[in-house]
Amino acid sequence: MLVSAKEMLEKAKAGHYAVGQFNINNLEWTKSILQTAQEMNSPVILGVSEGAGKYMTGFKTVAAMVKAMIEEMNITVPVALHLDHGTYDGCYKCIEAGFSSIMFDGSHYPIDENVAKTKELVEVCREKGISLEAEVGSIGGEEDGVVGMGECADPKECKMIADLGVDMLAAGIGNIHGKYPANWQGLSFETLDAIQQLTGAMPLVLHGGTGIPADMIKKAIDLGVSKINVNTECQLAFAEATRKYIEEGKDQQGKGYDPRKLLAPGAEAIKETVREKIELFGSANKA
Ligand code: 13P
Repeated sequence: MLVSAKEMLEKAKAGHYAVGQFNINNLEWTKSILQTAQEMNSPVILGVSEGAGKYMTGFKTVAAMVKAMIEEMNITVPVALHLDHGTYDGCYKCIEAGFSSIMFDGSHYPIDENVAKTKELVEVCREKGISLEAEVGSIGGEEDGVVGMGECADPKECKMIADLGVDMLAAGIGNIHGKYPANWQGLSFETLDAIQQLTGAMPLVLHGGTGIPADMIKKAIDLGVSKINVNTECQLAFAEATRKYIEEGKDQQGKGYDPRKLLAPGAEAIKETVREKIELFGSANKA
């Protein structure tokens, strides 16, 4: 069932668990994530970055594929199709393509411009029943080989953006995309607590879910995080399983070169990763 992320996240916030956003890159990714969510009776969010959307030939292709898969695979758990870190133009493209949820990442604009653009998108999304995520305080990560440390968002700015009527709020609390460097300081629970105190019932989003230790994930959920984004971890699991298959020479045995066989271990590895995260986040049987 393709739905907006609003209701599943409100339930998660009230029920003290989090819904996973797993980023998709192709058909195998999407199929693995949908299968696992259905098996575990969990709501799920499929994240699509602008780059991944382009790779899959455009947001329309992605929306058509996801809608058709939900139907053909008899997926009955709530599924949101969500634009990840959208630009202003990307948001409108996804609204037009039939996404059920979008993120407008205005964190690099001055706060007044972030507010103005977010406000406009709140109106458009509300009219169409699409959920909207906003971001305050940029979330670091590896760019051109340099790993930036995660910033901490200003709780007052978070409150200002939350009050515009968005459905979920991503706030930097020292989290970063990709692998965490050895000298990472960990999440700033002080910042998260301050943000949660001011924003109340607003579901908070934790980006950079890859590599955050389980105890920190649990504490973040206790402090109001209801959506956790995972991307790199599925990619690493897929790459490792695929490498093993090739290194063992399985592509050279019988019809092991058939992509349906070659990509199967990677697809299974994604399922295993998603399974572990759904367990950890507590969203199993919450569909
Ligand atoms: P990771 O790649 O670190 O898991 O982050 C995913 C993410 O936050 C997508 O927005």
